[in-house]
This record gives sequence, C-alpha cells and structure tokens, in this order.
Amino acid sequence: MTDAASATVRAYDLDAAAYAANAPAVPESVRAAVRGLVEELGAGARVLEVGSGGGRDAALLEEHGLRVRRTDVTPAFVQLLRAQGHEADVLDPLTDDLSSDEGPYDAVWANACLLHVARPDLPAVLTRLAALTRRGGLLRVAVKEGDGEGWSTHGSIRGPRHFTYWRPDALREVLVGAGWVDVSIVRVPGKGSEQWLEVVAVHG
Ligand SMILES: C[S@@+](CC[C@H](N)C(=O)[O-])C[C@H]1O[C@@H](n2cnc3c(N)ncnc32)[C@H](O)[C@@H]1O
Repeated sequence: MTDAASATVRAYDLDAAAYAANAPAVPESVRAAVRGLVEELGAGARVLEVGSGGGRDAALLEEHGLRVRRTDVTPAFVQLLRAQGHEADVLDPLTDDLSSDEGPYDAVWANACLLHVARPDLPAVLTRLAALTRRGGLLRVAVKEGDGEGWSTHGSIRGPRHFTYWRPDALREVLVGAGWVDVSIVRVPGKGSEQWLEVVAVHG
C-alpha cells in the first residue's frame, strides 16, 4: 500500500463511527444495482464485499436474500461491524487473501472504496478480485469520475483522504485487462458537480 493509501486508512480509522452514523440514505442507483445482482444471481448467492464501511450495503444485500462476506481494510470499521454482531475481516484487497473455504464467490461488491487504491495498483486489485469470482460471476464497483488524483477533507472524516479519479475509457481498459467482460460503466450524478462511474462487469 502506498503512503497515501495508508494515510487514508488512518483517517477512516479515526472517524469510522461518525462515518457510519452519518451514512447517507442509500442512493437509488445502489438499490437498482442490488436488485440487478439478485435478478442475475438469485437469492442465496455469495457476495464478497470489499470496503464494507459501516455496513449499509451489506444489510441491503442481505435483505434481498444474498449472503455477504464483510471485509474492510480499516480496522475500526471491522470492529463496528463485529459490534453489530456480524462476522467481518480486516483485509486489504491488494495484498491479503480474500478467498473463502466455500470456493469462488458469485459476486464482488466494492462501492466507493477502490477510489482509494493508487492508479498503478488497480489492475492488480481487479485481477485478484476476478480470481476470487466464479466465471460468469459479477463485479460491481463505483468510483468518482475525474482526472488525476488528489486529497480531500470532507464529511465526517476529519483527516485528509487520497482519491484516484477515473475516466470511463481508462477504467474499462483496466477492467478488461484484469479479466472482466461485458463491462457496463454508467455515469451517475453525486453531490454538487461530482459524477460517479458505476461499473457492472462479468468474470469472463
Ligand atoms: C467512502 S467509504 C465507503 C464505504 C461503503 N462501501 C459505502 O459505500 O458506504 C470508503 C471505504 O473504502 C475503504 N478503503 C480505504 N482505503 C482502501 C483501499 N486502499 N482499498 C480498499 N478499500 C479501502 C475504507 O475503509 C471505507 O470502508
């Protein structure tokens, strides 16, 4: 992990409880992605979640009948999830073993977290996630659209966090190079002028 990525994890670690307590309502695009996952995979499918944070999306995925393995690289988020009674693991998708004794997952869900992975490291992360997913399984990722990278201090996290911004063509190239096919990238408006890139792809 780069120094910037480590500093970002430290920032989340200090204010994880505040982040979880102030989680915004689930956006409609996220609800639609959950419905899409269930329609495609069926209830009971196994989902690896990367960057579970306060657990908002895992709860929604489970409400829809999916089975979720919660993980996060930030220890304080994992402590919060455990305090809520969930199993959760501190794991970095760049370096740690996220595999399961039950075999490959049916899907990987990584909302608003891989934007903290340094650009040169994203191909390795997406390749590792493909290796953990059965062929025909799905990936759902959301990152912020833009050029370059930068630090931002906002919301409930007081420390600066490092973000890597992506444009659709470059992101698609990395996804395809990592073994993902049928890549769909949709632009979704966020706060102010912010645009998100919401990705769904299939492990080919
Ligand atoms: C903006 S929060 C999103 C949390 C949750 N997925 C959601 O949508 O509410 C960013 C998440 O990315 C995680 N994260 C930070 N650095 C990361 C990294 N290098 N790789 C993967 N996840 C990271 C944080 O711990 C946090 O859970």
